[in-house]
Amino acid sequence: MESFDLLQPYKIAEETFVIPWALEAPPVGHFPMNSMVIRGAEPVLVDTGAPAVRSQWLEAAWSVVDPLDVRWIFLTHDDRDHAGNLLAVLAACPNATLLTTWFSIGRMAEEWETPVNRCRFMTDGDTIDAGDRTLVAKRPPLYDNPTTRALFDPKANVLWAVDTFATNVPTPVPETAALSPDEFRDGQFFGGRLVSPWVALLDAQKFGAVVDDFQHLNAEVIAGCHCPVLRGAQISEAYDLLRQLPGVPPWAEFTQADLDEWMAVAESSVPPEQPRPSGT
Ligand SMILES: [Fe+2]
Ligand SMILES: [Fe+2]
Repeated sequence: MESFDLLQPYKIAEETFVIPWALEAPPVGHFPMNSMVIRGAEPVLVDTGAPAVRSQWLEAAWSVVDPLDVRWIFLTHDDRDHAGNLLAVLAACPNATLLTTWFSIGRMAEEWETPVNRCRFMTDGDTIDAGDRTLVAKRPPLYDNPTTRALFDPKANVLWAVDTFATNVPTPVPETAALSPDEFRDGQFFGGRLVSPWVALLDAQKFGAVVDDFQHLNAEVIAGCHCPVLRGAQISEAYDLLRQLPGVPPWAEFTQADLDEWMAVAESSVPPEQPRPSGT
């Protein structure tokens, strides 16, 4: 990887690209906010990015694939960071079918009407023939929305894990190989509990079987919305950490005392020549 810029797509496998974005998340660094494009015989957009960077995201996607060539839009779930540009993408890609679920369409109806005549339901375990590859939808072990399905591409051996393997990072990087072992482990434990606090309620053995099942997809490359790309030994390590999560004490949320402290620091860092807010 020569260079890395947010919203500049980079290749992660044959005909497969990540569109990287990230949000600052003080005081824990940054969270990746990625999407993916499979540029095969029938190009697939995997999620549609966040509304906050709509025009830049669309420009990035169309730098990988001609919108008129896009045949499929796989929506993992209806959260804003994944479905945020869905209507713009549907408008730009008149030849694309939306791979979604009944419940996702319903949940999005709070904000817009998804054209049902352009939809195809693709639930857990369903496959779709994309010309030169058969893609598999699969519910991932961790998720923060009940409609969530991951997507596995057996041809490129790439797994889009959606919100599973979410991690904070000190600074955005294309691959988890750039993280130190401590950053990698702490990030997996933090991200997993943040996205799915219910993991503490799980029977470790039952959850372990779900993790095994997902791991048996045998992906060589794992990409996700909130993690840099995983490869090699870091994949099995990430699965091992995931299996441990039910036994890790829940993450203690930031409290009002934390917010007070951050505000005090922000106030004390106001340059002295500037007027200070009254009453402080
Ligand atoms: Fe989500
Ligand atoms: Fe997400």
